[in-house]
Amino acid sequence: MTRNGAARAVGLTKSYGSGAAEVTALDQVDVELGEGEFTAIMGPSGSGKSTLMHCLAALDHPTSGQVFLGDDEISAMNDKKLTEVRRDRIGFVFQAFNLVPTLTAEENIVLPLAIAGRTPDRAWFDEVIDTIGLRNRLKHKPSELSGGQQQRVACARALVSRPAVVFADEPTGNLDSASSAEVLAFLRHSVDALGQTVVMVTHEPVAAGGTDRVVFLADGRVVDEMREPSAQRVLDRMKSMGPRRPSLGD
Ligand SMILES: Nc1ncnc2c1ncn2[C@@H]1O[C@H](COP(=O)(O)OP(=O)(O)OP(=O)(O)O)[C@@H](O)[C@H]1O
Ligand SMILES: [Mg+2]
Repeated sequence: MTRNGAARAVGLTKSYGSGAAEVTALDQVDVELGEGEFTAIMGPSGSGKSTLMHCLAALDHPTSGQVFLGDDEISAMNDKKLTEVRRDRIGFVFQAFNLVPTLTAEENIVLPLAIAGRTPDRAWFDEVIDTIGLRNRLKHKPSELSGGQQQRVACARALVSRPAVVFADEPTGNLDSASSAEVLAFLRHSVDALGQTVVMVTHEPVAAGGTDRVVFLADGRVVDEMREPSAQRVLDRMKSMGPRRPSLGD
């Protein structure tokens, strides 16, 4: 039996709008994300990075093509099944931390489980908390935490259900370099120590340089990939792809 990756897209096409206003955000994308690997997705603004993540994470429906999570085709699932998949098997980290301001760090971390009526696995919760190094901040509200700490709380929230894949869309986009380094170190550690599969969109060569593999998108297509990347090699590759248009955010 062939072993499938943690997530896979086959001929994935996603268009928005119709007629003259139609935009093809993804055009026949084939990509496989290795289990227990840290993958970066890079490419110019508008190249389809967020759309790819959303389709892989069951947050958006493909126009055509297939998306698999492990052996299960999520592109064939109904909304009820997709809700279960998002809740039980996917973790998502956004550029804006999206923490609930009135809840403590700990309450934020376990909120998705609480909503799903599940109790956190205590041993796993402890492991995640120790990995993010926030044990003495658990009773703090988000406003009492630095940006890097808030994003680590958001990462812990994504990890606490032991999802098959954690998707992070520009998780360091709002952070200074020291806080970015904290979050990247945590994601790296979650792959190395906890065996987590992580996929991250980033514009930063230094961030991509710490992953296992970089997938480059341009105009909705996969145009290149790099294994064992370094920040310098990523930077050189980006230069050859042309300047990045300024992003107005998502
Ligand atoms: N909901 C939507 N409706 C219409 N067009 C959309 C929608 N979402 C994305 N697009 C378009 O699809 C293309 C890809 O967008 P996407 O957000 O995936 O790019 P991105 O690579 O994440 O860019 P950025 O680096 O700026 O975040 C763009 O042309 C965008 O304008
Ligand atoms: Mg985006």
